Amino acid sequence: MNGQNLKIFTPTSIGDTAWLRDLWLSEWGGEGMVSRGHVYHLQDLQALVAVDATGGYVGAATYRIDPAGDIELMSLNATTRGVGIGSKLLAEVEAIAARSGAGRVWLITSNDNLDAIRFYQRRGYRMVAVHIGAVDEARRLKPTIPLVGEHGIDIHDEIELAKQVG
Ligand SMILES: CC(C)(COP(=O)(O)OP(=O)(O)OC[C@H]1O[C@@H](n2cnc3c(N)ncnc32)[C@H](O)[C@@H]1OP(=O)(O)O)[C@@H](O)C(=O)NCCC(=O)NCCS
Repeated sequence: MNGQNLKIFTPTSIGDTAWLRDLWLSEWGGEGMVSRGHVYHLQDLQALVAVDATGGYVGAATYRIDPAGDIELMSLNATTRGVGIGSKLLAEVEAIAARSGAGRVWLITSNDNLDAIRFYQRRGYRMVAVHIGAVDEARRLKPTIPLVGEHGIDIHDEIELAKQVG
């Protein structure tokens, strides 16, 4: 697969939205996402899905426009890693942000997600805050958040990353 052959669009059909919901259930433990102490529900977010040349779903991004007019990226998933799906989805979210006049794109990831922290920094994102114990707090709102994450690392903290796009 090559990122060049992907089609990225806003989910509209029942099939698109069902796939996205299933992705959230399997990858994010439910239809709610906790960020900075707030629970956001999938149905209230903007979304993009990616399909490959065969029409199969291969990735998705969800985001919201925050009260300051910036875009918070709420989730980013690639069903196959390292073939350009995440990069293309992220670039599309940034293009939407730039077109809409948003100053920046920002996101939260957890302290164990070293792959994501690397991925975003390689794409110009800076760590703008570390919220100590924020995932422990979030787990009270969303008990499906695991205690142990990638690489066997205990999950406790939220890492906030941001990039200026406009
Ligand atoms: C983080 C995540 C979204 C990244 O998506 P991805 O599709 O694997 O990322 P990409 O393939 O675009 O880029 C990863 C690397 O593959 C390389 N790559 C890109 N296109 C490629 C291609 N056609 N062939 C081979 N490698 C390629 C990129 O150069 C990149 O390396 P770099 O960071 O050194 O530049 C993905 O790993 C994922 O779904 N993780 C689980 C969910 C998650 O943690 N999301 C982030 C928190 S919200």
